[in-house]
Amino acid sequence: MPARFEMFVAAFALALVAMATAACGDDESSATSGSASSGSSVATSTSTSSGAGGEGGGGTFACPDSGVLHGPWSEKLDFDSAVVRWDACAEGLASITFEPEGGGASRTAQGAQSAFNVRTTFGGIPGATLPDEPGVRYFTEVTVDGLVPGTCYTFTLDDDDARGGRFCTARLAGEPFRFMAIGDTNPGIAPTEAVVDHVIALDPDFGVHLGDIQYYSSIVDSWAQWFISMQPLLSSHAFQPCIGNHEDEREFEFMDYYDRLFADAGFGGDRRHYKFESGGLHFFAVDSEGDLSIGSEQGRWLEASLAEAAGEDGFRGSVVYMHRPFISVGDGGSLPDYRAHYEPLFEDFGVRLVLSGHMHGYERFTSGNVVYVVSGGGGGLIGDVSEAIEDRPEEAALREAFAAAFHAMVFDVGAESIEGRAIDDSGEEIDNFSIPLP
Ligand SMILES: [Fe+2]
Repeated sequence: MPARFEMFVAAFALALVAMATAACGDDESSATSGSASSGSSVATSTSTSSGAGGEGGGGTFACPDSGVLHGPWSEKLDFDSAVVRWDACAEGLASITFEPEGGGASRTAQGAQSAFNVRTTFGGIPGATLPDEPGVRYFTEVTVDGLVPGTCYTFTLDDDDARGGRFCTARLAGEPFRFMAIGDTNPGIAPTEAVVDHVIALDPDFGVHLGDIQYYSSIVDSWAQWFISMQPLLSSHAFQPCIGNHEDEREFEFMDYYDRLFADAGFGGDRRHYKFESGGLHFFAVDSEGDLSIGSEQGRWLEASLAEAAGEDGFRGSVVYMHRPFISVGDGGSLPDYRAHYEPLFEDFGVRLVLSGHMHGYERFTSGNVVYVVSGGGGGLIGDVSEAIEDRPEEAALREAFAAAFHAMVFDVGAESIEGRAIDDSGEEIDNFSIPLP
């Protein structure tokens, strides 16, 4: 048996043990603490890793010649602009060259880098997992503006022309478009890459991530490993994430990774919750690890923003997405008190689709005019999708489809409806449904 294969077997066995107790649950992970990414002092530029089994893997961190360490990806989808981001381990040009996907002149855009002293340390399984090392990193952001609405662009990094991607600007109200959703991505232990491949082949304009982006608790996945596995998705389209409980598994992780790299992904909210729109559909990324209670800052923002969106010209409907499900009869719990409060507002303000992850499987519910999809099938080991059927009969009665399957979602927004599909890791459609739109 090849040595590397043996290591993967060992890693997988350890991962199974870890996930058997962890899954997507709350026990091993605290709620994320609010933190701004700016300000950590800068020290030396290289570092030496420390011990194995979650505390380092040995060897000395080697920064690539290009200085580009992770990414790129794009966020902050808008009608005439987008941002392209990557993480670097050395200062560089911080610029990109981009052009319309359908042909046209290329342009360059200059960005800026901000140094940050990353402190998170994780070794994983030596030989199977690239460690996450502490040290100075340069978060790089390029704002690309002057773009044409409803147009897709491709780009490459001037620091490393082997790295690049694609983003699309927001569609004008009424124009058709496609987007995707995926949650609970754990590529080290499950067929996340296959799930992603089938969906990005359909060229969605953008994707929403439903939280639990990466799992230290599976032991096999470091952020360094995650970025390699997920680069095809990150390069495919704008990445619009929300926060899951696994974004804060280790000391410093939340500020070093989610908050530094992915926060400030939209408009009108803060670093943890935000909105954006495309084609007359308004999207609200909610932080279910934060306070969503009635009267909370986030709760008041959501209520006011849903009402405001419903009054805008060209409004067709809203999509709310968050990590923890308001309704579920799987093994990840549900939030019935929040549903009781927010669902009447969803009805009043045209929310037609609520997406969440956290439960490792697939569920679809309809309550009134609101469709709830639980899509936590991006790679966390599949759980019991029907564990709470007897405990929560009111929720069970509203469930119209479910599957214990790895999968991601694709949504086609057309003239009269949102057509939703759940696609598994073999490319098979495991559910489809239609949501009427005005
Ligand atoms: Fe979770």
